Amino acid sequence: MKPKIRLIASAIVVYVISVLLKVSVDAKSPQLFLDWTVSFSKRAPLGIAKQVIVINDQFPGPLLNATTNDVVNVNVHNNLTEPFLITWNGVQMRRNSWQDGVQGTNCPIMPGKNWTYSFQLKDQIGSFFYYPSLLLQKAAGGYGAIRVNSRNVIAIPFPMPRKEFDILIGDWYNVDHQELRARLDSGSWLPLPDGILINGLGPNQASFNFEPGATYRLRISNVGLKTTLNFRIQDHLMQLVETEGSYTAQRYYNSLDIHVGQSYSVLVTANNDSDSMSYYMVASARCIPRELSGVAIIRYSGFEGEPLSPLPQGPLLFDYIYSAEQALSIRWNLEASGPRPNPQGSYHYGSIDINRTVVLSNGVGLVNGKIRYTVNGVSFHYPDTPLKLADYFQLEDVFEPGIIPNMPDFRFPSLGTSVIDVLYRDYVQVVFHNPMPFLQTWHTDGYNFFVVGMGFGMWDVSKMATYNMVDAISRSTVQVYPFSWTAILIMLDNQGMWNLRSQDAERSYLGQELYIRVKGIGQDDPSTISPRDEDPIPQNALTCGRAIFA
Ligand SMILES: *[C@@H]1O[C@H](CO)[C@@H](O)[C@H](O)[C@H]1NC(C)=O
Ligand SMILES: *[C@@H]1O[C@H](CO)[C@@H](O)[C@H](O)[C@H]1NC(C)=O
Ligand SMILES: *[C@@H]1O[C@H](CO)[C@@H](O)[C@H](O)[C@H]1NC(C)=O
Ligand SMILES: *[C@@H]1O[C@H](CO)[C@@H](O)[C@H](O)[C@H]1NC(C)=O
Ligand SMILES: *[C@@H]1O[C@H](CO)[C@@H](O)[C@H](O)[C@H]1NC(C)=O
Repeated sequence: MKPKIRLIASAIVVYVISVLLKVSVDAKSPQLFLDWTVSFSKRAPLGIAKQVIVINDQFPGPLLNATTNDVVNVNVHNNLTEPFLITWNGVQMRRNSWQDGVQGTNCPIMPGKNWTYSFQLKDQIGSFFYYPSLLLQKAAGGYGAIRVNSRNVIAIPFPMPRKEFDILIGDWYNVDHQELRARLDSGSWLPLPDGILINGLGPNQASFNFEPGATYRLRISNVGLKTTLNFRIQDHLMQLVETEGSYTAQRYYNSLDIHVGQSYSVLVTANNDSDSMSYYMVASARCIPRELSGVAIIRYSGFEGEPLSPLPQGPLLFDYIYSAEQALSIRWNLEASGPRPNPQGSYHYGSIDINRTVVLSNGVGLVNGKIRYTVNGVSFHYPDTPLKLADYFQLEDVFEPGIIPNMPDFRFPSLGTSVIDVLYRDYVQVVFHNPMPFLQTWHTDGYNFFVVGMGFGMWDVSKMATYNMVDAISRSTVQVYPFSWTAILIMLDNQGMWNLRSQDAERSYLGQELYIRVKGIGQDDPSTISPRDEDPIPQNALTCGRAIFA
């Protein structure tokens, strides 16, 4: 070929390839456009009216129903009288912590303003939920379910259910969230909750229709502030299939402990022939000194009558052994394909060398005469500028990585802006140590991790010999039992500024959280912070604090 012809030919090839690429990207990544208005509305789920956060007048908010790799654009109009942000619990936001919707990554959407989140559900499947992340607003609702469906080309590891139901369970307080917040601000604790809601409704208000013999997928999330709930259905077994984006070994359970912030999918097959045509669904409080139950009703073929009493029994209120044994029985399904065609088990997490161990111990103490919750003695304090923006604009003195120790050192509690710096693709062992007599739940934004071990007492390196290095579950939210430890392994392959927090809203509000900064490849000099390999700052990024002048 003559040079000129070759040039034209290669130009055509490049053009054709780029058109093909564009088409394939467009075909694979549909865009979803949603428009949400967030406002206060007086509602009375337990008979006492309070300020509830509704989205497009709905409580719970609308279902976010999407498919792997979809790009979701949500224009959020804040019609509250307070600043507002939504966080997408469990959505990994690949290289895009700009969209995470927590106080360390985003400036708030101010009252009367709107802001559009835009993120891709890259390489994810599963069940999640969203909720308001600021100002204890979660106590006013504002939450909703997220489904990330498999692409058609990938088989799900069970027969297609007849239908799916999203079931949001959570503790509920009859007083406004501002009043609860004022209690915490003044140095007091939250009281015990007043009840348990199922899909925003009080006892016997929510109902679900089953057809005899049909199988349903229930996607259940604990969206409450702080109470672990036991979920069960009268005379029906639940087959666990998925948790927070991982398929599980498909065991049957009579009842499931669901800790705050956790999500599960179960399959339930309706009985074919039975005496009763309606059944109780129960979500009851665990490990608090008060018996509280959320109750919904499953009706066969629209039957109107009440279920046969009594409510199905759950475990004893403080039976931690039941809960811990169940936790260890929840395993990764090695054969099932997740978001990609290759089976989950083809990722051999157990044979990767661990680069670093971090032990995080939760505590409580008085700082300036007020109750604060701590991680390794440091109670998180938010500066006026989100850490993500401070990083981007290279603002100094907003935070200083390393003020939180790698191991508990029994210091006096103090306030600090805790950031742990890690290198891209470090494989880190995090041990959560809970020396307190209460349940704890931890969550990482941007990541799933492998829950390799749990045990009573103190953790030490000898415990590593007991880890499950074959089929430990991969998830984003894990409980730590009283006077116990939980160990996770986490591959830090998602650049950004990621929030690691107690999912107990009272504790994270009072400082029990920190951020993990995952720096780009080769960024090993702490003075050079580069957003390389991360998505660029969004054009619509809000600014606030010191970032306004940057
Ligand atoms: C969710 O999206 C899937 C795929 O587009 C669709 O088949 C399904 O009907 C949707 N479900 C709901 C409840 O909107
Ligand atoms: C916004 O809030 C105001 C006052 O609370 C209310 O009157 C108005 O209807 C709300 N607008 C929307 C779109 O929800
Ligand atoms: C606010 O909403 C309008 C339309 O309602 C939209 O055109 C605009 O882009 C939105 N602003 C942001 C920052 O998302
Ligand atoms: C229940 O009934 C359906 C059809 O009505 C049938 O296909 C199914 O095999 C039955 N299941 C059981 C467990 O009997
Ligand atoms: C982590 O450890 C692995 C195996 O020892 C090593 O190859 C890798 O370079 C380490 N990563 C970093 C970022 O140091």
